[in-house]
Amino acid sequence: MSSRRFAATAKIGLAAFGAALAIAALGGTSSAQDKAKAAAAAAALPATGAPAASDPAQIDKGRDLFTNYGCGNCHTLGDAGATGHVGPALDGNANLSQDFIVNRVTNGQGMMPSFAGQMSQDEIATLAAYVVKVAQK
Ligand code: HEC
Repeated sequence: MSSRRFAATAKIGLAAFGAALAIAALGGTSSAQDKAKAAAAAAALPATGAPAASDPAQIDKGRDLFTNYGCGNCHTLGDAGATGHVGPALDGNANLSQDFIVNRVTNGQGMMPSFAGQMSQDEIATLAAYVVKVAQK
């Protein structure tokens, strides 16, 4: 497979994965299940960068991003040993979904800076999947 063709395939895989996450968050219909299946297949491809929240390596990567980008200076998240109080606590936060976190981290809001220029979309997706996974409910 040429690298260009691979890149295109990887992009489609990522898009499908994102769509499946969004649809899964809404509860899912039968066509959503087809998309989720396609996304699961895409996620199984190596090197797509798609976040697989159940993969321990992705959890570790998400925790590193959380720590390295200073999220913990402003937010509480027990899994990362973070006790910041500038922004809302992420533990026990009912707002948290993949899309919501991606949106806040990408665009910022109020006192929260945008991280779009510092992290890639893949990294932001990995970070968001990590927070969704580990935040106390
Ligand atoms: C300088 C402090 C600061 C940093 C650094 C910061 N945030 Fe925030 N964050 C905030 C503040 C303040 C808000 C509330 C914004 C508002 O709603 O006006 C917020 C809101 C949020 C929200 C929405 C919470 C809710 O319930 O509304 C999420 C999710 C979030 N931040 C995640 C992150 C992540 C992940 C990082 C690291 C990439 C990060 N933040 C870095 C200050 C910060």
